[in-house]
Amino acid sequence: MKYVLIVGAKSDMAKAIAREYAKQGFNLYLAARNVNELEPISNDITTRFQRVVQCFELDLTDFDSHESFYNSLPEKPAGVITAVGYMGEQKNSEVDFEECHQVIDSNYTGNVCLLNIIANDFEARREGFIVGISSVAGDRGRKANYIYGSAKAAFTAYLSGLRNRLYDTGVQVLTVKPGFVATKMTENMDLPENLTAQPEQVAADVFSAQQKGKDILYTKWVWRYIMLIIKNIPEFIFKRLSI
Ligand SMILES: NC(=O)c1ccc[n+]([C@@H]2O[C@H](COP(=O)([O-])OP(=O)(O)OC[C@H]3O[C@@H](n4cnc5c(N)ncnc54)[C@H](OP(=O)(O)O)[C@@H]3O)[C@@H](O)[C@H]2O)c1
Repeated sequence: MKYVLIVGAKSDMAKAIAREYAKQGFNLYLAARNVNELEPISNDITTRFQRVVQCFELDLTDFDSHESFYNSLPEKPAGVITAVGYMGEQKNSEVDFEECHQVIDSNYTGNVCLLNIIANDFEARREGFIVGISSVAGDRGRKANYIYGSAKAAFTAYLSGLRNRLYDTGVQVLTVKPGFVATKMTENMDLPENLTAQPEQVAADVFSAQQKGKDILYTKWVWRYIMLIIKNIPEFIFKRLSI
């Protein structure tokens, strides 16, 4: 049975995605910081779906560890899904470059470092799928979260280029752009209910889009149209807005 590698596996979204792939017949490699904390999700999946789940320690900002981490996987995965992300507080990122750097490395540089290695392997094998969880925040910079948004924008551009590079090899690259999702990351935010997805809904959308070979997924779907409007507001108006 094929393995899917899920990076940032303690994320609420990643846990739901892991359950979805297990339900659909995949074994799992789960990678995260503090690997012991993966035990509950690993046990849950093993019990409910009778799949093989193997857990690995991985800090995405520990760039030098990525090659040996990937080489340590018992067999190469059929696909990789990265859900790693860190928003932090925008105001802190404005005054503390360490914090700013952490946001950029967690959302962008770390993903690039790992996916470069995996993309080279998939390209050589001429198979595989890569799913990157970016964000609608990368579609336009806003004063409320433009450090995080700019890292997501860079990640979105990276995934677009990677998709273009790997097209001839049959390797699929899916960019996921969630709007609001009810997770740890947003637990202190007052989110509009009708625009906020549950992690399980995102997981089902990701699985379906990946299986259909889609390139870009907005979830909930309505965010595609919300962002179309937001992207088309002229800059001289946009700079005056608080949205
Ligand atoms: N929630 C939303 O509304 C929303 C909207 C758009 C996009 N997203 C994106 O969706 C993805 C999943 O986020 P989520 O909402 O499920 O939030 P979450 O539960 O906070 O998940 C983020 C995960 O990233 C992990 N992480 C951060 N830095 C890491 C590093 N250096 N190495 C390894 N893991 C690291 C965290 O690990 P620890 O558990 O060890 O801290 C955490 O498990 C993220 O990329 C996020 O940016 C979320």
